[in-house]
Amino acid sequence: MKVLVVGGGGREHAICWKLAQSPNVTELYCAPGNAGIAQVAKCVNIKAIDVDSMVNWARDNAIEFVVVAPDDPLALGMVDALEKAGIPAFGPRANAAVIEASKAFSKELMKKYHIPTASYETFTDLDKALAYIEEQGAPIVVKADGLALGKGVVVASTVDEAKTAAREMMADKKFGESGSTVVIEECMTGPEVTVLAFADGEHVSTMPASQDHKRAYDGNKGPNTGGMGAIAPPPQYTAEVAKRCMEEIFQPTVAALKAEGRPFHGVIYFGLMLTPDGPRVVEYNARFGDPECQAVLSLLESNLMDIFIACREGTLDKLDIRWKNQAACCLVLASGGYPLDYKKGCPISGLEEAGKSAVVFHAGTAEKDGQIVTSGGRVLGVTAQGSTLEQAIANAYTAAKPISFQNMHYRTDIGHAF
Ligand code: AMP
Ligand code: GLY
Repeated sequence: MKVLVVGGGGREHAICWKLAQSPNVTELYCAPGNAGIAQVAKCVNIKAIDVDSMVNWARDNAIEFVVVAPDDPLALGMVDALEKAGIPAFGPRANAAVIEASKAFSKELMKKYHIPTASYETFTDLDKALAYIEEQGAPIVVKADGLALGKGVVVASTVDEAKTAAREMMADKKFGESGSTVVIEECMTGPEVTVLAFADGEHVSTMPASQDHKRAYDGNKGPNTGGMGAIAPPPQYTAEVAKRCMEEIFQPTVAALKAEGRPFHGVIYFGLMLTPDGPRVVEYNARFGDPECQAVLSLLESNLMDIFIACREGTLDKLDIRWKNQAACCLVLASGGYPLDYKKGCPISGLEEAGKSAVVFHAGTAEKDGQIVTSGGRVLGVTAQGSTLEQAIANAYTAAKPISFQNMHYRTDIGHAF
């Protein structure tokens, strides 16, 4: 099969790396890809959000299956457009991807189908939002409705902080139209875990649980990032918690989307908080998480292409998906300054040495004059395994040692922060 993967970060490198091991994938392309992806797939210079160019290129090059990995093209309906052009695609259609694209939609869905989540109200009127914040008190959480690059959420510890956040989103339009509608929620407490699950419209098959580290610095300090490292599986996610999540959250979510006429085919990202009252949903995403995907897919034994096909065709229940009985850790090496301003184009050394004991997924790299250089905030995801989580973490840090580039920054407490 000739397969095209859409995207160009660490997640897409992990997907391409795994697909390259599938015997039924004979030719692999990635758009736009990056310097690491270029080692396992042919990169095509089309932006991930350019739906028309992507569909045209796939058609002109007789691509037989497209994997749409990032949130934006999913929300823009790239899967719908590909399928309309007769090209089979993995990922939810826009009407199902809305579970990520609109927080107001997903909160209403959870309320209607009794899926446990924080209590909330939705507002389009600033004065009403301010009055609600006053009435509820702090701590309280203020969220912009639409996609805001993971930055549209403020966990406010005081009423003033919450009001300022609501004003910035609704009146000052800090996140553009994403903030015209805000969701104001009860503040939950407890460890956070991610569960990624394959869904085929009706059936759901979970991957090993994982845990992201969203803050930039050690001790969960500093600004939120796309994720500075991930482990799988986190110790807090016990078999008992998993059973409860399957019965109360995962299956009901897939059934709810089907009942709403929005069958979900793809990967659902369940962002969960294990509160004293049981597991509750913090957020849904309509795709693999990054860097969680890097840690989790490194544990997959089965053929990923077969799973993607089954998700599209509704035959997931016929597959026996096998995972390694190991733990994994993905350590993100970032550009100093990320998530704010950072330098690009810095030469990276030590990649070959590191690759001997771990898989080094590329997130933001490019090739310049035969040399691999930095080209993004998150640069690399050094992903290692171990028979215990402690061992996997130690292996990732050891493997990363030879790697260096100017202003390289990473957290030293991945797997130990919660
Ligand atoms: P989200 O984009 O909805 O995942 O929110 C980003 C982060 O904000 C989450 O990973 C949580 O750490 C935090 N957060 C979101 N909603 C809540 C909530 N209701 N209570 C406590 N923390 C929250
Ligand atoms: N790592 C968080 C996300 O992918 O949304």
